[in-house]
Amino acid sequence: MDATAWDARYSGAEPVWSSTPNVFVAELAGALPPGRALDVAAGEGRNAVWLAERGWDVTMTDFSAVGVERARTVARGRLGEGAEGFRAFVGDALESAPAPVDGGGYDLVVLAYLQLPEQRWRTALARAVDAAVPGGTVVVVCHAERNLTEGVGGPQDAAVLHDPEAVVASAHGLPVDVVSADLRERVVEAADRPALDTVVVLERH
Ligand SMILES: C[S@@+](CC[C@H](N)C(=O)[O-])C[C@H]1O[C@@H](n2cnc3c(N)ncnc32)[C@H](O)[C@@H]1O
Repeated sequence: MDATAWDARYSGAEPVWSSTPNVFVAELAGALPPGRALDVAAGEGRNAVWLAERGWDVTMTDFSAVGVERARTVARGRLGEGAEGFRAFVGDALESAPAPVDGGGYDLVVLAYLQLPEQRWRTALARAVDAAVPGGTVVVVCHAERNLTEGVGGPQDAAVLHDPEAVVASAHGLPVDVVSADLRERVVEAADRPALDTVVVLERH
């Protein structure tokens, strides 16, 4: 889907995604001390606003201007004075991310459910790693390819789904160590089986 299609999807009366953070982002980022975070392809900002509520200084980007505007509205409503620590930009995940306010890089970069075919996915991952400081954490969560046959929901196009091994392969040659790469089950309300997500944690060196 291109930015226009995402704009159309985010133009409905109701939010597309939940207002609560993704369970794996919450688990992994919740274990880290707050610092500077970048959420790439952040959509309506469910993870970004949650991070800001926990004291992170957050920058989020998405190529959908409508999604970004929604995230700004949510942030204004939920963060109050803390909204100062939240910035949302229209931006392409395949290009360099904006730097934090005080320059340098990010302690945490989140890439959650960015659905891109292999070559573009690799470029987006490389840009995400570029944005992290040495020692910084890159959290990747995406629909696994195995979700197509063994899970539920999510995109039905295998080209934009990535199993843990594929994400690790995409990270090959980037300045990172692989901390973990797992296939995780995510409970889906009213479904008879869980969704299968790829959850990979990288540390920049
Ligand atoms: C499935 S949504 C996930 C949103 C958010 N990360 C979350 O977990 O709620 C995918 C998002 O990726 C964004 N997106 C897709 N391709 C992009 C690109 N090349 N650059 C920036 N954003 C992109 C879409 O606009 C959409 O908001």
